[in-house]
Amino acid sequence: MRVLKAAVVGAGAMGGGIAQVVTSSGLPVLLKDIDPRQLDAARTHIEGIYQRQVHRSKMTAGEMREKLDLIEYTLSYEGFDKVDLVIEAVPEDVEIKKRVLVRLDEVCRLDAIFATNTSALSIAEMGMASRRPHRMIGMHFFNPAHVMKLVEVIPGPETDRDTVDTVQQFARTLGKIPIVVRECPGFLVNRLLMPYLNEAVNCLQEGAATAAEMDAAMGPAGFGWPMGPFALMDMLGLDVCHHIVEYLASQYGERMQEAVLLKALFDAGRYGEKNAMGFYDYPGGERSAEVDVLIQSLRDQRLVTKTGLAFSADRLLACLLNEAFRCVEEGIADVDDVDLACIAGLGMQVRKDADLAPMGPLEYADEVGLDVVLHRLKCLEAEFGRRFKPAAILECKVRAGDLGEKSRRGFKEYTT
Ligand code: CAA
Repeated sequence: MRVLKAAVVGAGAMGGGIAQVVTSSGLPVLLKDIDPRQLDAARTHIEGIYQRQVHRSKMTAGEMREKLDLIEYTLSYEGFDKVDLVIEAVPEDVEIKKRVLVRLDEVCRLDAIFATNTSALSIAEMGMASRRPHRMIGMHFFNPAHVMKLVEVIPGPETDRDTVDTVQQFARTLGKIPIVVRECPGFLVNRLLMPYLNEAVNCLQEGAATAAEMDAAMGPAGFGWPMGPFALMDMLGLDVCHHIVEYLASQYGERMQEAVLLKALFDAGRYGEKNAMGFYDYPGGERSAEVDVLIQSLRDQRLVTKTGLAFSADRLLACLLNEAFRCVEEGIADVDDVDLACIAGLGMQVRKDADLAPMGPLEYADEVGLDVVLHRLKCLEAEFGRRFKPAAILECKVRAGDLGEKSRRGFKEYTT
């Protein structure tokens, strides 16, 4: 099937951004919400993106008008019988999502595809609720949706081939890079990213460094990522991060256990940039006295311990690398796709020299040496416990002498 008309349900930051991406490829889209204020906010967000393109002379005002005319903002399901594909982007609550899917099933054509932009929830469960599991699929965009190139495509157990092919083709039409991921909690990228972010919060609550110091260490002038972990969590929303990490902990257990401070910030109503209070205070991204007080209070209650250990980038990366190894081991995605997903979805860049091609986690591990990565994980496991237990595949590779680039055998393929 070819998608000629789409709809997005849920006009939050992601839903609005996705609707803009659809129109930028020249396709019409219905953008539906239940709250007119949410639709107004989405309109402002979308117009802002196009206005900036006009200011940069990337399009004319007339072209911008044409794109904006492709969006129909709506509070009803009128016109949904004409769409080929619906992207559901309502809040990350499986019961809300299921209710929306039941309603969509009533108003959409029988062959229409239901794609969900869920960050982590079960496609299989939503497929059952949709009453068309063969047309249900995950289509996970990354924030900011109009900038990040990756779309994770996640078929459920009953999704048919045509749905997978159509969604991949549709993502390419939108100028995105689709990567098909085997379903698992958190899919691929959040499964790697969230333990990394959560470990940064562990470091903060232990007093290893300040948020600003760690952001500087991991960001463009440091390790080379486009943003440090705390700036990124504030951009994503601490409510979003909390819900994903809580869900991952319920699925993967100890190794994804949520940092006490992340939950405490969520409970304190600090949701990040969206309400001007996160790890930092906004506008300006200043150090927050309230966060300092909260950390001290968690220490006073003995919920966290100040360890006095110094921060190391390796500690954060170890969580991400170890989960990347597990994803390869479980066949969630192949080696090249794991690397490409991190580059296209997170802007992962571990070389400070911008002229060099970006490198994903598995290429990075090969370059560092798999024996070195294994040794680091074992040291971290001895210091911090089982969440750093090395993935079995890593131990096997090192035992077999596959040490990465230096032995010309590792996760990546080497020609000589
Ligand atoms: N919030 C929203 N949009 C932002 C932003 C922020 N904090 N910071 C920048 N942007 C937007 C800008 O408005 C700008 O949009 P326009 O092109 O429309 O003007 C665009 O990003 C580029 O901004 P800059 O020119 O300032 O460029 P930059 O080089 O500083 O890049 C960035 C900004 C693209 C956000 C870059 O820092 C980056 O790639 N960061 C990593 C983002 C990332 O990892 N995203 C994935 C998160 S995981 C996820 O989304 C999955 C999930 O389920 C939680």
